[in-house]
Amino acid sequence: MSFETLLLEKQDGIATVTLNRPNKRNAMNPRLHEEMTVALEQLRYDNEARVVVITGSGPAFCAGMDLKEFFSDLKSKPAEYDRITRLAVEWRGRTLRYFPKPTIAMINGFCFGGAFSIVEGCDLAIAAEEATFGLSEVNFKLFPGGSVSKSLANLLRPRDALWYGMTGRPFDGKRAAEIGFINVAVPLAKLREETMNVARELAGKDPFALKATKDGYRHSLEMTWDAAMSYSSAKEMELVVQQNDAWRTEGIGDFLKGKYRPGLESHDKVHKG
Ligand code: COA
Repeated sequence: MSFETLLLEKQDGIATVTLNRPNKRNAMNPRLHEEMTVALEQLRYDNEARVVVITGSGPAFCAGMDLKEFFSDLKSKPAEYDRITRLAVEWRGRTLRYFPKPTIAMINGFCFGGAFSIVEGCDLAIAAEEATFGLSEVNFKLFPGGSVSKSLANLLRPRDALWYGMTGRPFDGKRAAEIGFINVAVPLAKLREETMNVARELAGKDPFALKATKDGYRHSLEMTWDAAMSYSSAKEMELVVQQNDAWRTEGIGDFLKGKYRPGLESHDKVHKG
């Protein structure tokens, strides 16, 4: 499938998916949801992609759902509206949440409404200080629908979720970092460099350990303590099989031989350069 709404590039183990409808501020139309579904499926099994970065072209990261092609044009097509809603919720939700590789949202500009679920679905988020975020739904008489309310409940403090959800006021990247919606905000001129530094750092770590880190955190959120302990124990055994016990023999083994200090540096970085 060739993409009409996305750009896909790969370099040094990092795949960058760029939402590419700059004239429409990268609003998510039905085609974009279909293409993101396919692109993420491809990257899931692509050995050249160890980390996935999602960003936008032009002045926007993503202006949310396409208000015309999704909400308006599909008004009298309930089955198609339902089909696209399911795709839209799935790729920004379960697919990103449990994606087998680390994901980073690189927020370069406007980020509204439905785009909050992309940011929340990614493991990490780095934004330009100059980016503009907003839960604009209330401004056009809607509410943060689809997966957005759940994304807010998952990530934001209650006061912030309701403040921004009810006022619809825009805020910048620095504020997004302050309220914990993103990890860090940097000047736009430095955004790509800073994001790629983080992506390269992750690409240099053990992929099974990274996946276990994601799974342990995300599944624990919805488990009782006892279930989480049991899951963690099973996960530890899974890692032994996947890595042929490398976390013990190499990871801990090389520390015990005095070869490196894991508190300060990564095993694979030290040993693979
Ligand atoms: N859905 C569909 N089209 C959108 C869109 C959206 N969410 N956001 C922007 N566009 C389109 C505009 O209709 C316009 O199309 P046109 O050139 O064919 O008329 C084009 O993108 C540029 O938008 P414009 O408003 O002229 O650009 P801007 O840079 O001045 O402002 C925004 C950008 C994002 C601030 C503004 O377009 C906006 O408020 N969009 C709605 C954002 C929103 O509420 N999203 C939540 C959806 S859940």
